[in-house]
Amino acid sequence: MDFKLSEEHIMIRDAAREFAQTELLPGVIERDNKQEFSDKLVKKMSELGFMGIMVDPKYGGSGMDTISYVLIMEELSKIDASASVMVSVNNSLVCYGLEAYGSEKQKEKYLTKLASGECIGAFCLSEPEAGSDATSQKTTAIDKGDYYLLNGTKNWITNGGRADFYLVIAQTDKDKGSHGINAFIVEKDMKGFHVGPKEDKLGIRGSDTHTLQFNDVKVPKENRIGANGSGFRFAMKTLSGGRIGIAAQALGIAQGAYELALKYSKVRKAFGTEIGNHQAIAFKLADMHTEIAAARHLVMKAAWDKDQGKNYDLSSAMAKLYASEVAMKHTVEAVQIHGGNGFVKDYHVERLMRDAKITQIYEGTSEIQKIVISRSILRD
Ligand code: CAA
Ligand code: FAD
Repeated sequence: MDFKLSEEHIMIRDAAREFAQTELLPGVIERDNKQEFSDKLVKKMSELGFMGIMVDPKYGGSGMDTISYVLIMEELSKIDASASVMVSVNNSLVCYGLEAYGSEKQKEKYLTKLASGECIGAFCLSEPEAGSDATSQKTTAIDKGDYYLLNGTKNWITNGGRADFYLVIAQTDKDKGSHGINAFIVEKDMKGFHVGPKEDKLGIRGSDTHTLQFNDVKVPKENRIGANGSGFRFAMKTLSGGRIGIAAQALGIAQGAYELALKYSKVRKAFGTEIGNHQAIAFKLADMHTEIAAARHLVMKAAWDKDQGKNYDLSSAMAKLYASEVAMKHTVEAVQIHGGNGFVKDYHVERLMRDAKITQIYEGTSEIQKIVISRSILRD
């Protein structure tokens, strides 16, 4: 067993750290206030290879492993979780989904553009009446011979307003339940596709989240991903990898808040000494340090499982469950350590606290991760 990062991994982590410090940190408060994220920053992340981290270079990707992916995700999330969710969706839901399950033609036409960052992707599973209960979706994709006719509504879609290509999960044969579901590639210019207004959110406010409407959208048959009826399995397998990305995002948010709290504890004085010398504060820092380290081990284990070709459904759910709970708990503590200063935007911890909440909700809530984990351990 080796707990050391390789030289290459350290270089990748440091490059992401440098980018986050120099490019993401300036303006992060303003982006959060204005709910925006500039194309210029997306372009810079693309140039660094962050939009197709794990994709084979023959499809325009960076050809890195999952450990590199989580290192990059952690560093970006320490500063700006809105940037990292864009990276996470494009990498582990869209690019991975296409690389692992798409046809050669789909990879050439779509993956190459997504992995290079020339185009952005979105993953569309959730619906107004089907979030956690993903099999009960109502969006339909009726087989019309050489095309499918898509009708329905998807909500909460990350990158919804800026994406070029959308992976859409829809019901083709309701009688077959989860085996009647398919996944499709929808292009933003297809007739009948509409993007609704941007959601006004508690956290990750720089990330754009939209409701999407599909009104008689004709999707060519060649845009179906995988065999007929394989769409739900596609979504579940893809989400297992996505959950590693969100676990790394939660880890980064927690680590970012911890670093700020530690620094503050060494300079802020009360009752004639630095607040870190008061045991109540010191113990909070000890808990943060310990639980963040435990979260990091779970995240790394899930990434390692994926790199080793092992099954990572269980380890990714455990990593996401634990890291997101740690992120929420300790960003609240980081605000507490900052006192009144924690309550204002300039000190960053209130934003990290708001951003932490979403990691317990998307890509399967904490309750859903417990369903995945408990089913797995009871079955095995
Ligand atoms: N791999 C392969 N197949 C899988 C699978 C997996 N990981 N998980 C389930 N399946 C298969 C099952 O084996 C089953 O097939 P059979 O009938 O042949 O046995 C079929 O899929 C249906 O599975 P279940 O019976 O387990 O389905 P369920 O209705 O009980 O739901 C669930 C399972 C785990 C709760 C699932 O619905 C789920 O994960 N819900 C959460 C949805 C979610 O995570 N949404 C995220 C949206 S994307 C997003 O959020 C992005 C973002 O924010 C940035
Ligand atoms: P519900 O499913 O209605 O759940 C409500 C509550 O009930 C939760 O606490 C849940 O854990 C609990 N619950 C439900 N079922 C059970 C059960 N069986 N046992 C115990 N508790 C249960 N989706 C996409 O497809 N693509 C995206 O890009 C995307 N991005 C998102 C971005 C943001 C900012 C947000 C807020 C959401 C995003 N989502 C996306 C949707 C997200 O995945 C769902 O919100 C999430 O899966 C929960 O679904 P729901 O909101 O319908 O909650």
